[in-house]
Amino acid sequence: MTTVFSTRWVGDALSGRLDLLDQTLLPSEERVLPLTIASDVREAIVSLRVRGAPAIGVAGAYALILAARDLPLDDEAWSPGLAQQADWLNRARPTAVNLSWALGRLVRHDSTCPVGFTRTQRLERLLAEAHTIVAEDRAMCASMGVHGAPLIASGAGVLTHCNTGVLATAGDGTALAVMYAAHRGGVPFRAYADETRPLLQGARLTAWELQRAGIDVTLLCDGMAAMLMKQKRVDLVLVGADRIAANGDTANKIGTYGLAVMAHYHGVPFYVVAPSSSFDLALADGSGIPIEERKAEEITCGFGRYTAPQNIPVYNPAFDVTPAELITGIITERGIVERPSVASIAKHLGGVWQPGLS
Ligand code: MRU
Repeated sequence: MTTVFSTRWVGDALSGRLDLLDQTLLPSEERVLPLTIASDVREAIVSLRVRGAPAIGVAGAYALILAARDLPLDDEAWSPGLAQQADWLNRARPTAVNLSWALGRLVRHDSTCPVGFTRTQRLERLLAEAHTIVAEDRAMCASMGVHGAPLIASGAGVLTHCNTGVLATAGDGTALAVMYAAHRGGVPFRAYADETRPLLQGARLTAWELQRAGIDVTLLCDGMAAMLMKQKRVDLVLVGADRIAANGDTANKIGTYGLAVMAHYHGVPFYVVAPSSSFDLALADGSGIPIEERKAEEITCGFGRYTAPQNIPVYNPAFDVTPAELITGIITERGIVERPSVASIAKHLGGVWQPGLS
């Protein structure tokens, strides 16, 4: 059994590569793609070979190093060239702010490079920063697990949506890190994984990842969650985030908003689990979050067979926004913000939040 991971850099900055587990093939095939060209990494992000907000931030950061290998090393051209490549990579997927956050961080880091650095030194300096992003993400995942685990009571039913685990981050995940921490702590609980239409990240990735880790996981179609709650089999909902606005409004995989409405109706606590890199405090509320729309075939012909009439008009937003008032709390690497608001989030993130690409 291979180790589960999302991305892994191998080698130095000049000749190294980015290994990426192709998530579109899971769970039937575990294939690692060795990538050395930035446009291949960008394609992998667009086609969801790598996906999940923190993981695409990491992949984007490493892709920028691959892109920078081809930049002319004169001061006039390097910095605008790097910024242009960062912007091109950032446009791969619009909703998860982690991509813009990681790229912005590398561009800002490069702007503080001492004068006279060689190409190799400059690339190595960027690579070191990308590795730091990975190390920090790993640590943040671990902390979210520690802060969230006490919410899982012995015997609880815990429902999740999409995939927010090892495959979606550089560490244990966000919502799934909470489950992993509780499991390691010996707390018995049952995970319920929403299938997550249309691309089945819950069925293909979460169910696979949790089962492999020895966690008791049951798969259900998205439309079954309300009945499960009515039957009192769900004690807690844990989801991730692609972008959280200053007031706590949270964009996450399509279907998350519906789940929050159901949880509210049934009195089930609904927690978002996300690191500080998933916040966008430049947005006052969720109305400004760009929502990615994906192609119709993902719904009409998702896995190689038409399941709808051809040419039928389709609406396929990949994410929705859950209003803060439906969120019981947000678990970050710093702790839990209960009943999130502009004031409580600003206080919680004081000093750590960094903007993305401007
Ligand atoms: O389209 P995807 O698979 O990238 O969507 C992923 C999600 O919505 C996750 O819940 C989110 O990115 C958080 S991952 C820790």
